[in-house]
Amino acid sequence: MDLPAPTPAKQETPLTVIGLESSCDESAVAILRRNATGGVDVLADLVLGQTQAHAPFGGVVPEIAARAHAEAMDGLVVAALAEAGLTLDEIDGIAATAGPGLIGGVMAALMTAKGLALGAGKPLLAVNHLEGHALSPRLGQPVAFPYLLLLVSGGHTQLLIAEGVGAYRRLGSTLDDAAGEAFDKTAKIMGLGFPGGPALEKMAVAGDADRFALPTPLKGRPGCDFSFAGLKTAARQIWEKLEAPSEQDKADLAASVQRAIAHALASRARRAMQVFLDDFPAIAAPRPLIVAGGVAANKTVRNALQGAAGEMGFEMIAPPSKWCTDNAAMIALAGLEKLERGAIDGLEAPARARWPLDESSAKLDPAIGSGRKGPKA
Ligand code: KG4
Ligand code: ZN
Repeated sequence: MDLPAPTPAKQETPLTVIGLESSCDESAVAILRRNATGGVDVLADLVLGQTQAHAPFGGVVPEIAARAHAEAMDGLVVAALAEAGLTLDEIDGIAATAGPGLIGGVMAALMTAKGLALGAGKPLLAVNHLEGHALSPRLGQPVAFPYLLLLVSGGHTQLLIAEGVGAYRRLGSTLDDAAGEAFDKTAKIMGLGFPGGPALEKMAVAGDADRFALPTPLKGRPGCDFSFAGLKTAARQIWEKLEAPSEQDKADLAASVQRAIAHALASRARRAMQVFLDDFPAIAAPRPLIVAGGVAANKTVRNALQGAAGEMGFEMIAPPSKWCTDNAAMIALAGLEKLERGAIDGLEAPARARWPLDESSAKLDPAIGSGRKGPKA
């Protein structure tokens, strides 16, 4: 779905787009306007998290998320318009995540956007959430295509090359759990709380990462795919064998798991960098390796990725964390790019639990699936 370049006529008036996001556990609305330098001005950028609502369950509960999104969306739209000092009349397009994600949640933003589009007579832009993540590095700074992106969050773990707007090539993704889920589930087994990633990182500080041997995921398998389910199971088995685990036992297991996840991410990222080098030999060092998603906050993960990037002639760039984690600014940006290219959607645009970013995989997948393998697999 390589989108055409924007038409010059459309570029003359800078377009303003509102974006809505509700595919996992963040309700978010943002408003962006194209500026004279070709970048974007973020006029409003609101996020309402649900961590407390899910904390008692140690993970995101889809029904709770869907209800909370449905309750939050209208108010967030009103608040974003007020913050931007705009009326709906002054907005040129209504963008919303249409998938992939938890289907009840996806519907909250998409249905709200459809209502706004119909009521105000504005074009609807149904955005792939993953395209939002793929374009997010361009929210704050000019990042030239092509670039390599590692997306590591609670819902996604994938490596892709962004070649242009609408042109993404997925090099690999997780076959089971996302990296963030591996952190969260291990932390849950160890009783460390939710969200598990930060809790596990804290616990790991005083730990010995050499104490427990963990399996290397997908050992010997070529390519850029990930798998974290085996690591999680191995960690659980170690945990269950520990009788009355001490704080030191917990710290050692946390450190061992954290290092295993970091190594797995760095090893596949290294392979993806090699693919990039083979495909774009003319691009000089340092080539950008963009790392987005909540797991990118982990210091051990960052160090491992930074090391691999340095060895391969890449520079690891992490966008500001507010745009790494789920947000609506990235959805509005993807919508703006679509609008500038005239890629408008009809009001029948479906909500999709699964929606691969690259066309070749997309053709193989049904429009609406169960989304069983993690919220945004
Ligand atoms: O991108 P994100 O905020 O949201 C979505 O997944 O949508 O990512 C959240 C994930 C959670 O799984 C959380 O445990 C993980 O990122 N995470 C971390 C850290 N901070 C957040 N994992 C490891 N170490 C951290 N410091
Ligand atoms: Zn996301």
